[in-house]
Amino acid sequence: MSDRLSTHRYAHIHPDVIERVVRDESPKYRKESDRRRAVRNRLHIMFGAYADDKLLNRLLREFTPDISVEVFDTLRMQALRSHLSTRERAEAVRPMYDFILKNVDPPATIADLGCGLNPFELPEWQPPTLLRYDAYDIDLRVVELTNRLLKRMGLPQSAYPLDLAVRTPGHPVDVALALKLIPVLDAQRPGRGIELLIEMPARIVVASYPLGGMSDSISRDKLRSAKERNYSAQLEAGVSGVFEIVAKDIIGDELVYILYATSRLSDRAKPSAEDFGDRG
Ligand SMILES: C[S@@+](CC[C@H](N)C(=O)[O-])C[C@H]1O[C@@H](n2cnc3c(N)ncnc32)[C@H](O)[C@@H]1O
Repeated sequence: MSDRLSTHRYAHIHPDVIERVVRDESPKYRKESDRRRAVRNRLHIMFGAYADDKLLNRLLREFTPDISVEVFDTLRMQALRSHLSTRERAEAVRPMYDFILKNVDPPATIADLGCGLNPFELPEWQPPTLLRYDAYDIDLRVVELTNRLLKRMGLPQSAYPLDLAVRTPGHPVDVALALKLIPVLDAQRPGRGIELLIEMPARIVVASYPLGGMSDSISRDKLRSAKERNYSAQLEAGVSGVFEIVAKDIIGDELVYILYATSRLSDRAKPSAEDFGDRG
């Protein structure tokens, strides 16, 4: 079944994810048609909401190495608009990265976990010390576009397809970004969001949660406060004893934490057969 799915609407999803979802859903149904429906539903929940398919496909055609500076700027803004997450952050990019850079030493290496099109914000805030920007996502279009962006910026093409619900990157970095990722991973494997932060070979982790939602203002304010309370409680309990919370703020529609590891990675990560790369 995973072969058939990966040739159709979900061709841009990393095949490991399709296999994982098929593996998880198959035992729950006897009929093949029910199984397929369940797998499609799960994939739709994971992917339906974020990306504008038409815009992404156009970017894949037009965002090529030889474009002029003006076209680069125009397509970069379109890339940011093509993904719900970066669209929601549009007004808050500068304050978000000012907050991050105020609280961390200038990093040489960054990993962007579940990056979406957030790497397209990098030209606005790139630290002068940056040598490598690793980016991981399960949307193959996002990975391809990010590698083209990194090449254009003179950085190594280090965007990779990786299923973070079951795998942890192996390349150590100074700072790992996990922006609006924890609830997404928890929906796929409960508890995985914080587990990934703990296993990630990074000295500093920046984690954020989305607080946006409904349009009616009274319910929106109530929902925001409830989300803020729940997410703060989850993160602060989950990282206790492993990370020190050095800063916390609400920026735009995001609750943002800067976390410094207080223990060495070897003391905090469980050895896992599913690690990606050569962490050692
Ligand atoms: C809410 S968006 C956040 C995007 C980006 N971090 C930002 O804040 O702009 C979640 C992203 O995680 C990716 N994602 C979902 N499940 C994943 C998984 N199992 N492994 C890696 N990436 C995943 C999605 O493709 C999507 O780009």
